[in-house]
Amino acid sequence: MKAVVWHGLEDVRVDHVPDPRIEEPTDAIVRITSSAICGSDLHLFDVIGRPFMQEGDILGHEPMGIVEEVGADVHNLKTGDRVVVPFNISCGQCRLCRQGLQSQCETTQNRKTKKGASLFGYTHLYGGVPGGQAEYLRVPFAGYGPIVVPEGAPDDPYLLLSDVLPTAWQSVVYAQVPQDGTLGVWGLGPIGQMCCRIGFLHGAGRVIGVDHVAERLAMAQRHGVETIDMRGVDSVPDAIRELTDGLGVDSAIDAVGMEAEAGPVQKLLQRLKVAPDRYGALLSAVRSLKRGGTLAITGVYVGAFPLVPLGELFDRQLTVRMGQANVRRWVDEIIPLLGDGDRLGTSDLVTHHLRLEQAPDAYRMFRDKRDGAVKIVLTP
Ligand SMILES: NC(=O)c1ccc[n+]([C@@H]2O[C@H](COP(=O)([O-])OP(=O)(O)OC[C@H]3O[C@@H](n4cnc5c(N)ncnc54)[C@H](O)[C@@H]3O)[C@@H](O)[C@H]2O)c1
Ligand SMILES: [Zn+2]
Ligand SMILES: [Zn+2]
Repeated sequence: MKAVVWHGLEDVRVDHVPDPRIEEPTDAIVRITSSAICGSDLHLFDVIGRPFMQEGDILGHEPMGIVEEVGADVHNLKTGDRVVVPFNISCGQCRLCRQGLQSQCETTQNRKTKKGASLFGYTHLYGGVPGGQAEYLRVPFAGYGPIVVPEGAPDDPYLLLSDVLPTAWQSVVYAQVPQDGTLGVWGLGPIGQMCCRIGFLHGAGRVIGVDHVAERLAMAQRHGVETIDMRGVDSVPDAIRELTDGLGVDSAIDAVGMEAEAGPVQKLLQRLKVAPDRYGALLSAVRSLKRGGTLAITGVYVGAFPLVPLGELFDRQLTVRMGQANVRRWVDEIIPLLGDGDRLGTSDLVTHHLRLEQAPDAYRMFRDKRDGAVKIVLTP
């Protein structure tokens, strides 16, 4: 089959690789019909993924398709079912899965690397499991993970159940937005866009979005978001305070992660080596919060972060929640919003449908935010 394969720094290729097959009785094989590229894939494309990837790894963790074959112990799926596959691989049976912490599943947890549940296509820290940017995918614990979706409707809205929608949903829940309160969202990629829309749905009175990419700011504005172009202000926290009677936002979501771009002042401070490199979004969110507010960190961070602004968190009595999305925990609440009316505006998120063979260019286009790319879906 054809698959998107990691070869090194900024080097992904579409290779011919052996077809996956059932290895455990709890496996299923899915023929992929759509597979999205995520901001998380960009961490692997960039230098951060390098120590944890091996040449030949198949990428992708946002797939959907048709069940081709099921193992002997998979009873609730059958050949021909249309399914979307969550990015975390979880058993559904263990203590942590039952607690709704599927991203920490005790069965698929990676004890050797001291990491949480295995993930599709996401480094050897997280199990080295072949990913779904391919023609076929082997799905472990297929009796629990895959979500059967209705026949007939287009793939896109359901495809977003693999990661984007549950991740944004969890971010908003973790951010504890008070009724009619103000939510700040750093990063208006696919995750941030959906955080804004779900924030309103959960009762936010105002949502303020921060980014520097014109068409992403414009997309957020189309959905009622007030925006700050970080390139156009000296200090995002000051700009936020100006919009909020000097108080700051009740809740903030960091939907950027550890590859944040810096604003002019931050850049200068970085050059002078008095500001941490690439943690700009996190710091900006912390400094824009109201006293007693809540920060949800959804953008990915790896390794130790010695520069956590602990003093500021302590003084302002902030609450912080974070982590990988527990996809299965939220899907039942989200599915009803995907049918009639498209209340989350999913049709205004996917900007590009490209063939799987175009993956190398698609990765670059998404990384460089070329051609208005916000969310790219690959079709095998
Ligand atoms: N926790 C989870 O389960 C989970 C799931 C999916 C994605 N993620 C992470 O969420 C983050 C966003 O994902 P995405 O697909 O939307 O990615 P993306 O790369 O498309 O979006 C990031 C956005 O942040 C903007 N940005 C960069 N620096 C900024 C700054 N200093 N302030 C404000 N905005 C800034 C960029 O212009 C971009 O629009 C990534 O780190 C991704 O790995 C986490
Ligand atoms: Zn993703
Ligand atoms: Zn489990």
